Amino acid sequence: MKFFLDTANIAEIEEAASWGVLSGVTTNPTLYAREGGKLADFHNHLKRICDIVDGPVSGETVGLTRDEIIREGEELAALAPNLIVKVPTMPEGLAATKALFDKGIKVNMTLCFTVPQAILAARSGAAYVSPFVGRFDDISEDGIDQLSQVVMALDNYDFGHDVEVIAASIRSANHVTQAALMGADIATVPFAVLKNLVKHPLTDRGLEAFLADWEKVKNS
Ligand code: G3P
Repeated sequence: MKFFLDTANIAEIEEAASWGVLSGVTTNPTLYAREGGKLADFHNHLKRICDIVDGPVSGETVGLTRDEIIREGEELAALAPNLIVKVPTMPEGLAATKALFDKGIKVNMTLCFTVPQAILAARSGAAYVSPFVGRFDDISEDGIDQLSQVVMALDNYDFGHDVEVIAASIRSANHVTQAALMGADIATVPFAVLKNLVKHPLTDRGLEAFLADWEKVKNS
């Protein structure tokens, strides 16, 4: 499984990249606004992220019609060779994805919740399909089960182009564990979740014991 960061925060991206575990980034104008960014500067910010990340960076479109999404997708794709256009799952999004695919521009279809949505996304030409996990849990449904259905269903078909599943709306280490066990290609995670993945109480306890032993050996 590859790890993407779901963020617009440059410091978080730089830190995860320094660990050698960062394969990509997913972001959107809302995440950027949370960092105090202004929509007018979103494209410049995406370009900065693309320069740092050695891998795909998904930037979300905000248009609602096919033509708006295509226009915005072309603008985004021109920012950097590793820019992936993130498009919402809806009829206009499918139509725009088909047009962008025909122009050689890669799309990550987001806000995907069901197997039919995922198959339609892949069929329209999406290079990445992003089923959301946590938002199912939010409505007391099983997000992991939905994700596993999408992974299994997409695996049944050859779409004539590469399609990778990005497990999105990931909230916990358990989400990541389950996504990895079912073979999801990528998990896009907030930085707080990524930091938690490194930690375990037994690791902390083992480190404390090691340091205590080391003090004794050192002073003997
Ligand atoms: O890429 C956006 C997606 O990961 C959203 O996550 O936690 O807002 O449902 P969340």
